[in-house]
Amino acid sequence: MEHWIDKIDAADSLETLESIRIALFGKKGELAKAFAEMKNVPPEEKPKVAKELNLLKQKLMESFEKKKAELEKEALEEKLRSEAIDVSLYSPRPQSGALHPVMQTMDRIIDYFSSLNFAVEGGPLVEDEFHNFEALNLPDYHPARDMQDTFYFKDGMLLRTHTSPVQIRTMMREKPPIRMISPGAVFRRDFDLTHTPQFHQVEGLVVDEEGKVSFANLKWILEDFLHTMFGDVDVRFRPSFFPFTEPSAEVDISCIFCEGKGCRVCSQTGWLEVLGCGMVDPNVFKAVGYENVSGYAFGLGVERFAMLMHQIPDLRSLFEGDLRLLEQFQ
Ligand code: DAH
Repeated sequence: MEHWIDKIDAADSLETLESIRIALFGKKGELAKAFAEMKNVPPEEKPKVAKELNLLKQKLMESFEKKKAELEKEALEEKLRSEAIDVSLYSPRPQSGALHPVMQTMDRIIDYFSSLNFAVEGGPLVEDEFHNFEALNLPDYHPARDMQDTFYFKDGMLLRTHTSPVQIRTMMREKPPIRMISPGAVFRRDFDLTHTPQFHQVEGLVVDEEGKVSFANLKWILEDFLHTMFGDVDVRFRPSFFPFTEPSAEVDISCIFCEGKGCRVCSQTGWLEVLGCGMVDPNVFKAVGYENVSGYAFGLGVERFAMLMHQIPDLRSLFEGDLRLLEQFQ
C-alpha cells in the first residue's frame, strides 16, 4: 500500500486528490479493506499487524493532508492572480450630470435681474381663473382668452398658461415699490414643431409711485438685458397688444443667424421676436387694489432664448433627453 503515498504526491489537482481520498480512506476504500483483512490474521500476529497498519494509515493521512494544503494554497494563489485588479490602470472618467440648457438659460436670466435687485418670486402651477385671467384684465368674455389654450381641471382650476399670475399674487401680498421676476413652468394645449405643452417663462414686474416708472425705464432695461444675453444685436420695440399692459410692445432683436440680412429662421425679416412687454394696465392695478402707481411688465419664453443663444434649430430636441445634445452643455 506504500504506492499510495506516491499517488498522493503525484496528484496535481484537488479533484484528483478527492478521488484518491475516496479510493483510500472511503468506507469501501483500500484502508477499510485492509482493516477488514485483520480477521484472517493469526491471533499472535494481530498486535504487530494492527500496529503496522495504524502507522501506515497515519503516514497516508499525513501525506494526504500535506498535499491537500499544498493544492489549496496553489488554488488560492491562482485565484488571486486571475482576479487581481490593477489599480494603476487608467479608467474612463466618471460621467457627471449638468443642468439642462433650458435651466442654464433660466439661471443666466435670473442672474441678470438679481444683479439689479429684482426679487425672485414663485407661484403655484395649478392656478385659479382669477389670478391667471381675470385680474390680468382677461374677463370671461374677453377674446384674448382664445390666445391661451388652457388645460382645465374639473373644478375650474387650471394649469397656469403664463407666469403673469405671479404678478397678481405678489402685488396682493406686498405694498409697492415692487421689483420682481418670476421664472417657472407654464402649460398650454399646443403641440407642434414650435410648441410644447409645457415650457418656461420669466415674468418681470416693476411698480412704484405714479410717475416714477416709465416706458423709458422699461426700454433701457430690456435693451441692456438683451445685449447681455445676445451680445451686439439691434433691438427694436414694435407696438402690440396684451390685455394686461397699455401701451404694449413686442421686442425683436436683429437675427443672430443672418445678422439681419434675412434667412429661414427669421422668415426673411431680419428680426427675431424675443419678448412681450408694456406699462401695467390700470385695470390690473384696480384688481389688486393699488392706487396712484405706475409700472411696467414683461414676459419671455426661456426655451426660445436657449434655442437662439445656442443656435439649437429644433425645439423638440430640448425635450428628447438625447445625451449627444445635452453633453455639449456640461
Ligand atoms: N403673459 C404673456 C404670454 O404668456 C407674456 C407677457 C407679455 C407678459 C407682456 C408680460 C407682458 O408681463 O407685459 O404670452
